[in-house]
Amino acid sequence: MTASDSARPSIGITALGSFAPARVVKNEEFEARMDTTAEWIESRTGIRERRFSAPDEFTSDVGLGAVRDLLARDPDGLKDVDMVICATASPDAMFPSTAALIAGQVGLAGAGAFDLSTACSGFVYGLGMARGLIQGGMARRVLVIGAETITKIVDQEDRNTAILFGDGAGAVVVGPVPDGYGFQDFVLGADSAGGSSLYSRFLAHQLPGGFPMGKWTGMNGREVFKFAVRVLGDSGAEVLAKSGVKSENVDWVVPHQANVRIIEAAAQRFGVPMTKMVMNLDRYGNTSSATVPLAMKEAVDDGRVKDGQQILLVAFGGGLSWAAATLKWWSGAPSVQARDWAGQARPEVVSV
Ligand code: ACO
Repeated sequence: MTASDSARPSIGITALGSFAPARVVKNEEFEARMDTTAEWIESRTGIRERRFSAPDEFTSDVGLGAVRDLLARDPDGLKDVDMVICATASPDAMFPSTAALIAGQVGLAGAGAFDLSTACSGFVYGLGMARGLIQGGMARRVLVIGAETITKIVDQEDRNTAILFGDGAGAVVVGPVPDGYGFQDFVLGADSAGGSSLYSRFLAHQLPGGFPMGKWTGMNGREVFKFAVRVLGDSGAEVLAKSGVKSENVDWVVPHQANVRIIEAAAQRFGVPMTKMVMNLDRYGNTSSATVPLAMKEAVDDGRVKDGQQILLVAFGGGLSWAAATLKWWSGAPSVQARDWAGQARPEVVSV
């Protein structure tokens, strides 16, 4: 830690929520309608099922679901929020931003609001932006949402991509936490040399250099696989070194959930065993910017993540982009501590 770091306030996660659409799509559903098998999908990816949004359910809807969950867990969770960031690769519209659409429905109209576009690494990027905005004096607390209805931009007839993706959302509030807790360091990057390996078309029909983009999300699975293993491993190792944290002192890694084989290879690269990887890929598939907050909330709720533990977040995505962060977990607020909701009535969602 440098002298200037020690003068900055500690910033961490002070509230947490998530949401997944109701419709469960099992591998067998793909087996029934395309040239694949449930066994192939599970053995090559680790995915058994994922959630699909309804035809009239969009990213602002699932993002709103995550913020409502956050409020149900902590009715004061949005207090002092004056900025909203929605990381998404599947926004409702180019404008209004999905962040503004969600903000307007949870009493945050008037707060700054913008969408962040780095595909699957967007949520971890958003955490970095939030910390910077607060430490730079531009915001008091920031609501960071990772929300996707990415199945709507993936060709559901293409076995190469359709089987991988699911819909969902996670939301956190980033704000001041006691000294010794919160974010330590971030590593953020992007390299458009890999743009043709993973893209989603909007205005242009080709990338600079002439690579033609099809109508749907396009992916070269093998290239993305190699890139992902390298950047997850390297950015994880880099952020640990930057924070002065040895890999044996990491309690939990929350990685982007794209493919269990990618995560296994990356874990080896930064020297953390698979038993410390928080995984929920088998039940949600790749929900793009929502994977990290969805997995993080599960690990908090079931008591794996405890106060003061060392956490590593690592993600990669279209861009190609990558984002890694280290943080010491703070569990001083209601929604960021273990909680068994089973059989308990959740508190009423209050308007704020
Ligand atoms: N069922 C059966 N066979 C299939 C399927 C399927 N669903 N999909 C592909 N295959 C075939 C291929 O056509 C290929 O056949 P061929 O050898 O005759 O050409 C064969 O299986 C093997 O293909 P590979 O690409 O070598 O298979 P691999 O083991 O690499 O697995 C996969 C493919 C799962 C896509 C893998 O490469 C992967 O996970 N890549 C990373 C993808 C990823 O993470 N994308 C998300 C990025 S995040 C974001 O920002 C959106």
